[in-house]
Amino acid sequence: MEFNSSIYVAGHNGLVGSALVKKLKNYGYNNVIIVDRHRLDLTSQTEARRFFNVQRPEYVFLAAAKVGGINYNKSYPADFMYDNLMIQSNVIDSAYRSNVKKLMFLGSACIYPKITPQPISEDYLLTAPLEETNEGYAIAKIAGLKMCQKYREQYGFNAISVMPTNLYGPRDNFNIDQCHVIPAMIWKFHNAKKNNLKEVTLFGDGSPTREFLHVDDLADLLIFLMNNYDENDHINIGSPRPYSIKELAEIVSSIVGWEGEIIWDTSKPNGTPLRQLDSSKLNDLGWMPTITLESGIHNTYRWFLENTNGV
Ligand SMILES: NC(=O)c1ccc[n+]([C@@H]2O[C@H](COP(=O)([O-])OP(=O)(O)OC[C@H]3O[C@@H](n4cnc5c(N)ncnc54)[C@H](OP(=O)(O)O)[C@@H]3O)[C@@H](O)[C@H]2O)c1
Repeated sequence: MEFNSSIYVAGHNGLVGSALVKKLKNYGYNNVIIVDRHRLDLTSQTEARRFFNVQRPEYVFLAAAKVGGINYNKSYPADFMYDNLMIQSNVIDSAYRSNVKKLMFLGSACIYPKITPQPISEDYLLTAPLEETNEGYAIAKIAGLKMCQKYREQYGFNAISVMPTNLYGPRDNFNIDQCHVIPAMIWKFHNAKKNNLKEVTLFGDGSPTREFLHVDDLADLLIFLMNNYDENDHINIGSPRPYSIKELAEIVSSIVGWEGEIIWDTSKPNGTPLRQLDSSKLNDLGWMPTITLESGIHNTYRWFLENTNGV
């Protein structure tokens, strides 16, 4: 990308898109295109095609999607599948038709089988059944990755796919019915501290392990990959080490400053038991994250306090 290239960030109000827009501007990219969802609904083929025909961006970061935690996915499996299939199909196809130079599709680590050897290499895709709680979302993401490959194969379109692990950071979704594990814990522990609650209930038994990457590290990496990665194969984006949900709960409760008892509700699903991505392909490119989990959660909690009404 040149500093004056036109760069469309789809999903600029979201966790990833907002961090990306900020980082692109910080680096000096001065022609970043953003459009609010009420003016451009990417599930509409007509609107997507019209936008690309008029704006003709040179580079596209596809970070618009329907995204959420286990509960949200379980409650709206059809919407997760439909919205994501429509958004990504419209954006990838319209980008190709309007001669975009390069597109980056953001998938997710949930594309991999529920039970699979760890760490999970890119090659383990489609080798066993998926986790059922977010199957619709995962199938859509797999379709997006494959679509990028098919458009490259048939049309020579430079579309790459990246599969990040769990992300967190400022501007995350803190709606307790929809959110991922870190914002959910921040919300619950903050609520308990504010209301002097002695107990907080968390889903599952705390044993699953997950990796977490701060969204500012991710944004930095996405720009690096847009400039340096042109392969057909998707690439994993993991973190230096996984944490158990129990460990994570201790870190978040201590940063929030709540000291009480955590009750583990084992009637709720744990999700995939173990998940650690094999990021060796990425590491070979020479990129490593710089934000520790503790400092990243501090920074996220500060944003939550300053920018939401709390609870
Ligand atoms: N969050 C994670 O832990 C995580 C992990 C791995 C991969 N990812 C991937 O990273 C990407 C971005 O995720 P995120 O966490 O940033 O999600 P997010 O915070 O929910 O942001 C999604 C963005 O997409 C926009 N959007 C949704 N439907 C749209 C539509 N029909 N038309 C136009 N825009 C629409 C939303 O607009 P509004 O703000 O107007 O609703 C929002 O700006 C997704 O592809 C996701 O799969 C996320």
